Amino acid sequence: MKRKLLSAILCVSMVATMLVGCGSKAETATTDTAATEAPAADAAADSTEAATEAAAATTEGGKIGVAMPTQSSERWINDGANMKKQLESLGYEVDLQYAEDDVQAQVSQIENMIANGANCLVIASIDSSALVNVEAQAKEAGIPIIAYDRLLMDTDAVSYYATFDNKGVGTAIGKYIEEAKGLAAAKDAGESYTIEFFMGSPDDNNAKMLYDGLLEVLQPYLDDGTLVCKSGRTSFDDTCILRWSQETAQQNCENYLTGFYADEDLDICATAFDGFAYGCKAALEGAGYTADNWPLISGQDAELMATKNIIAGTQTMSIYKDTRLLAEKCVTMVQAVMQGAEPEINDTEQYNNGKLVVPSYLCTPVAVDKDNYKEIIVDGGYYTEEQLAE
Ligand code: BGC
Repeated sequence: MKRKLLSAILCVSMVATMLVGCGSKAETATTDTAATEAPAADAAADSTEAATEAAAATTEGGKIGVAMPTQSSERWINDGANMKKQLESLGYEVDLQYAEDDVQAQVSQIENMIANGANCLVIASIDSSALVNVEAQAKEAGIPIIAYDRLLMDTDAVSYYATFDNKGVGTAIGKYIEEAKGLAAAKDAGESYTIEFFMGSPDDNNAKMLYDGLLEVLQPYLDDGTLVCKSGRTSFDDTCILRWSQETAQQNCENYLTGFYADEDLDICATAFDGFAYGCKAALEGAGYTADNWPLISGQDAELMATKNIIAGTQTMSIYKDTRLLAEKCVTMVQAVMQGAEPEINDTEQYNNGKLVVPSYLCTPVAVDKDNYKEIIVDGGYYTEEQLAE
């Protein structure tokens, strides 16, 4: 096998220093939500009430600022487009901005939205703790804020949160791996599989929740040796990837393959994002993996490219998140703060941002693979067969 010819077998410590981890950034950025006692319902109600009154005092329609993180990944382009379309159809004027993963650019964009008279802000943050000052400015100006997909941390200026069940995403990936690899039977038979982890950005609350859900399923198999992580990097801090960088995922995967898998195949790439799956795919191809020893690769978002890769067999599964539904739920929250309506909420416990438990609506994530993508994605009208065949 070509990859076995790789001569540069780096020592473990060298590989470890080459891997782009997140270290202390993760510690500061991932708030321990359980540890902080928040004045839950009261604070949420106060902030929502004040904001609703201010917003309701404005004219019909109104201006909605929608701050999105980046256009480098397809999902956010869809999110932005869906939000704009749905809000405009209800008569709102929409100021949609992308900050290309530049935190300061996002702060400036939100400042401009406030200065330009936005009546409500919808924010999908880049760094969820970095917007505290601009969020306070919005609150001061009586502008309500809805957190979109990613929780806004350490602020009492947020009224509602529309997202997917983020821990559920991790659990779904974990269960998929457990079933696809038959881990329970492998355990009984004393067999094992190798696995490496590629987790999300430490400044995104979703990333740690996904990790927790994933490890809830897989940790017992790591403990009993059914799963073997040869790099030894299984903690969130050791496997998180700042700003969800595809390049870093590829680099990490290349380093793992070179440093730890010269004599044994890597069987599972447990990744938290389709972008990471693309990075792993490139690293595996570079190392000479073929269909004969291609590992199980997980992802998230069911991007068009990922779905094509699933059909082609170079990605095993992804998590389908219907961004149309998320936008729909978020729009009901905008309506609620603009018109005093009641949005649908289905979680008032899990999303403590350090200041309050934010009333949330969690959409359900669905695992997709080659066996069910037609039913879920094509029949669901997300992509057409033509798009997938291009
Ligand atoms: C989202 C994921 C997405 C990731 C990278 C997360 O906050 O929940 O759906 O894959 O960001 O963009």
